Amino acid sequence: MSARWRHLKNKTFSGHQFMWAGARTFWRRLRRRYRSASLRFKIAFFVVILLTSTSFVLSMVTVHIMNNYILNEIIKRGASVGKSIAASAGYNLLAHDLLGLDNLVYKAKDANSDMLYVAIVDPDMRTVVHSDPEMIGETRPVIKGRRFSEADDGTVVTEIIRDASPIFEIRAPIVFMNKSLGSVIIGMDKSILLGAQQNVSRMVLIVFGTIVAVGVCVSSLLALFLIRPIRELSVGVEEMKSGTAQSPLRVYSQDELGQLTRNFNEMTALITAQRGKLTRYAHDLEEAYVSMVKVVAAAIDARDSYTHGHSARVAHLSLGMGRRLGLVDTELRELEVACLLHDVGKIKTPDAILLKAAKLNQSEFKEMMKHVAYGADILSWAPSLTKYIPSTRHHHEWHNGQGYPDGLAGEAIPQFAAIIAIADAYDAMTSDRPYRRAIFREEALLRIERMAGTQFRPELVAVFKDVLEAECDRTAPLAAAGAAG
Ligand SMILES: [Fe+2]
Repeated sequence: MSARWRHLKNKTFSGHQFMWAGARTFWRRLRRRYRSASLRFKIAFFVVILLTSTSFVLSMVTVHIMNNYILNEIIKRGASVGKSIAASAGYNLLAHDLLGLDNLVYKAKDANSDMLYVAIVDPDMRTVVHSDPEMIGETRPVIKGRRFSEADDGTVVTEIIRDASPIFEIRAPIVFMNKSLGSVIIGMDKSILLGAQQNVSRMVLIVFGTIVAVGVCVSSLLALFLIRPIRELSVGVEEMKSGTAQSPLRVYSQDELGQLTRNFNEMTALITAQRGKLTRYAHDLEEAYVSMVKVVAAAIDARDSYTHGHSARVAHLSLGMGRRLGLVDTELRELEVACLLHDVGKIKTPDAILLKAAKLNQSEFKEMMKHVAYGADILSWAPSLTKYIPSTRHHHEWHNGQGYPDGLAGEAIPQFAAIIAIADAYDAMTSDRPYRRAIFREEALLRIERMAGTQFRPELVAVFKDVLEAECDRTAPLAAAGAAG
């Protein structure tokens, strides 16, 4: 457990701190998820958020406007009916025509299902006529509630609560011959208004829900169309990086994305052409480099007429082994150069030793042994040649660790050095020396096989034998050709 966690564990948090810590953690996770989300998701996400918020605000505004409109229509209708009754009731009141007043009240009540009651009261608020006959003679209470509107003619609309239900009560004054004769009172059922408002809200929500759903689908398609060329551009960049770009990308449109794709195609074509040129230049440079190395190797071999062509022959045999070992082309090329450079250190060996016509004594042999260190030193001067130092320095190491200069053994000896050691020894045995004649190929191979596991790596000796036999099958029988070695 880290010190930070121990500190947090021992600390006492309040509920407020826990809430903020949770919110911060949630925000961090959200940001991390957002960063790793695809571009298509981000576009669709923002469009959905925009559509949802816009639809929500629009639906709220629409519902509010529609509710007000419905409310006003109901009130206007109630007020209109009230005024109409008041206009007709004046004469009936003066004439005490109760039948006519009843007729007015019942007609209005029957024609408007949302009217709870219709009444006519005298100036003392005593009920003269009522749609509910039991209320006739009752005195209307002083109205208490929220006043909605008051017209110039004295018509008043008030929202009241009666029997726990909201009601719009409309009072229209009855004036006849400039004399106030009472009022028409109409009770409008507000629950019908609430039902109408709910219907409107439901319809608005359905409409905007459909808009959001269609918007989500359209934004997903839009994101798909927008992302496709970007994704193909991304794949194209990857192919260009890896050098596997085959054909130009498809241009989907004439807009900025299409222009970007066209520019990318032109850039890819230019880079591919330049890459081809560079590859050719590199190949030519490498050819020139190998030719130079061959010249250097030939110059070294030419110091001694007996070793003329030695490096090239070692390279030939080593490449045969390398192919059988499954080395790839670049490795075979490096093996060839390593063979050509393996004795480059002999350039510092004195002529008296290198060209001596007799066998070398102990001190001379010690000096001759130094050619591997000289070679490594020479190669260290050029950075591009340092990779050949191991094969140059260690091609005289023995598999059992008895070789020089470092006494490496087994797998510690670099593979190229172990290969060169066999080819080098074989070519030395099958070449004339001032103090001895060359031996037959068969005899040289037998000697190498006898030294498998002591001087040479056993599995490489087996590979060398295969190479040599294949070589002899191609030219002449092994025994017959031995003298030529
Ligand atoms: Fe050597």
